[in-house]
Amino acid sequence: MDLSAIIAERMSRIDSSGIRKVFDLASRLKDPVNLSIGQPDFDVPEPIKASAMHAIETGRNKYTVTQGIPELREAVLKYEKRLTGIKHNDVLITGGVSGGILLAFMAMLNPGDKVAIPDPYFVMYKHLCRLLGGEPLYVDTYPDFRLTAERLEQAGAAEAKLLILNSPANPTGALIGEKEMRRITSWADKNDVFVLSDEIYRTFTYDGGCPSPASFTEKVLLLNGFSKSCAITGWRLGYAVGPEPLIEQMTKLQQFSFVCAPSIAQYAGVVALSMSSELHMRAYQAKRDILYEGLKRSFRLNRPEGAFYAFVEAPGGDGEAFCRRAIEHSVLVIPGSVFSERNTHFRVSFAADDSVIDAGVDILCSLV
Ligand SMILES: Cc1ncc(COP(=O)(O)O)c(C=O)c1O
Repeated sequence: MDLSAIIAERMSRIDSSGIRKVFDLASRLKDPVNLSIGQPDFDVPEPIKASAMHAIETGRNKYTVTQGIPELREAVLKYEKRLTGIKHNDVLITGGVSGGILLAFMAMLNPGDKVAIPDPYFVMYKHLCRLLGGEPLYVDTYPDFRLTAERLEQAGAAEAKLLILNSPANPTGALIGEKEMRRITSWADKNDVFVLSDEIYRTFTYDGGCPSPASFTEKVLLLNGFSKSCAITGWRLGYAVGPEPLIEQMTKLQQFSFVCAPSIAQYAGVVALSMSSELHMRAYQAKRDILYEGLKRSFRLNRPEGAFYAFVEAPGGDGEAFCRRAIEHSVLVIPGSVFSERNTHFRVSFAADDSVIDAGVDILCSLV
């Protein structure tokens, strides 16, 4: 039997070869200076660990209701209403933000529907959109990575059913300020474009506030999670807050797929929402400064305002070629082509020990 014949046709619409190539090259390195990591380098805060262990020991190891335990749903709503003023009261606890993105796309996209995706973008948006037969409509934001209502208009994004916002952004660290967020949401309202807002990096904001589109429009699904803020990427915990008919369809899909988010993580999530992340964020602001001040001596880059990445112009304009050279010199960074329709940049993560950032900056600068 030809085993490739058992694979669904839709799988050919997605491709993970770009990032795999990097990791294949990287696996040959003995002791790399790793600036490719998409998760925090700090440990899980003690009270969060303790609450997960307590949940295991007290028998909270079974399925929960699909929509999530009431304590966490209530805590999420209270938290989001305080921070964003979101009007919606419906919330689904998901298997990370990734789970929320998949359920939302499945619940909303018909084949041929256009999804406006600011470019550069987090990899999942493009591939999941294509998997479901949707058509990515890229909104180019080079060279400053600012999404604006004008750029949306110029890209013809009014034709889209959905607009993805990710502020602060992976891979650029760019953030949408309040004035522009108001203009973008009023553009979306006027053109009847629904907003999916991935706010997973919201706590990693260094130079002032990070407004949510949920503060300015009701045509929004807010996705957020605990992976980055609590360093629990493996626990798979996130949530979606949005209009009741959409949350209802996403809940139905979760029931027949993930069933529920991990029970122990949900109990820990209640504790996590009551904690401040102030200390870690100050440490990350300092890491951002080390990276930015170091790289700007030799590279063209924008100062990241949030998340923990910088998106740097590759010398010679070929991101993949530069990453190959960096890897030959033991520094792991990711080519921009993984996150973009262009191959002119590379992504550097500063979710690393300060000494690793210093070493990486020195080697990268020596390659110019
Ligand atoms: C922008 C963005 N959204 C979502 C995710 C996935 O997060 P989670 O671990 O909650 O699924 C990531 C992870 O890197 C991300 O960078």
